Amino acid sequence: MQGNFKYSNPTKLYFGKDSLSFLKEELKNYGPKVMLSYGGGSIKRNGIYDAVVNILKQEGKTVIDDGGVMSNPTVEKLYEGAAKAKENAVDLILAVGGGSTIDYAKGVAASAYCETDPWQTYYIEQKDPVCKIIPVGSILTMVGTGSEMNGGSVISNHTAKFKGGKVFGENNMPKFSILNPEFTFTVPTYQMVAGFFDIMSHIMEQYFSSDGDNTTDYLAEGLMRSLIHSSLIAVKDPKDYEARSNIMWTATWALNTLLKKGKKGDWMVHMIGHAISAHTNATHGMTLASVSIPYYKYVLDGGISQFKKFAINVWGVNPEGKDDRQIASEGIDCLEKWMKEIGVVMHSSELGVKEDNIEAIADSTVIYHTDFYPLERKDIIEILQRSM
Ligand code: NZQ
Ligand code: ZN
Repeated sequence: MQGNFKYSNPTKLYFGKDSLSFLKEELKNYGPKVMLSYGGGSIKRNGIYDAVVNILKQEGKTVIDDGGVMSNPTVEKLYEGAAKAKENAVDLILAVGGGSTIDYAKGVAASAYCETDPWQTYYIEQKDPVCKIIPVGSILTMVGTGSEMNGGSVISNHTAKFKGGKVFGENNMPKFSILNPEFTFTVPTYQMVAGFFDIMSHIMEQYFSSDGDNTTDYLAEGLMRSLIHSSLIAVKDPKDYEARSNIMWTATWALNTLLKKGKKGDWMVHMIGHAISAHTNATHGMTLASVSIPYYKYVLDGGISQFKKFAINVWGVNPEGKDDRQIASEGIDCLEKWMKEIGVVMHSSELGVKEDNIEAIADSTVIYHTDFYPLERKDIIEILQRSM
């Protein structure tokens, strides 16, 4: 059932091999000072940096260089970027990279003129910005998070051992995003498949809640089938444009608020994954992969009808002669088999989780009231133990 909602998404997308050519037009909408935010250097090695800087120069922009955004961007980097953006009175933050760089850019955009501590205000107290927000544009180079078309911004505070997510409103979402699948060809395999699983997880987090007949579930099933199909091609041939472009498009729709319509959402795989990352700094998609199978097996009995639908409609499980639980559980087996085929991390111990930090990870896990199982700290500990 679809409830009451407003649907709109302010991010303009440019997609395809020629999409960078639209940057020129977009830049005309903003003032002269552009802060160019990027990661640890991949864009310098693959030529994207030079291509972007050339366009900025042609358009007469002053470039404020802001490299070094790390994966799982830190609160220290957020403060540094906010100070730089304010000091230079930048007119646009152009984020060139994956989810980390784009999330960071959104955080900086809302923090530069924030009169209180942005970490406390946005990521802990979950307040909305009341200050000026700097416009953000993005050029996506790594697929997975959906950050290119959503308000999400995830920042890590390693001192507090907490990875905090804030979903900002429409005025802090990228004004435009440029999506060229070829820009993702140089992503290392480990990161590529982590991104693939992140996409799957975003869809599952929204799908595994609020059962009943819902158009959103049909959209989610289609996106999952496309992802499964294309991911198996891309792991064999990462330069397969058809597969990579389908995956890029799927990733954007997996987390741009569309699949949330009519759905409550679960998000506990992400909450446990974020806590693992806060303690180990592991790659986001791999943290999700390491706990998904134990998590879904743990909550299965609370959501049999939805897991059964997943098994039949996504994986093509034949229901004949089986009871509902058997069918539902076969769907999870198919998910596990696919995960092994694409090569994601299946055990949290491979990411640095140890018996003696499980309790601390459980303490860093935000626990939501989900539809399928009333989770408590002891359940998180049990799931983490089973994920080892
Ligand atoms: O830093 P560089 O040198 O650019 O290298 C990056 C990084 O090492 C590399 N990379 C990216 N594009 C490349 C490339 N290497 C070669 N060629 C390219 N074209 O890939 C590595 C990973 O990049 P990163 O941006 O960290 O990955 P991802 O896109 O997975 O982002 C992860 C962050 O996003 C957050 C995560 O928690 C994590 O902090 N998330 C954001 C969400 C959102 N905005 O809604 C939702 C997600 O669930 C997630 O929580
Ligand atoms: Zn994610």
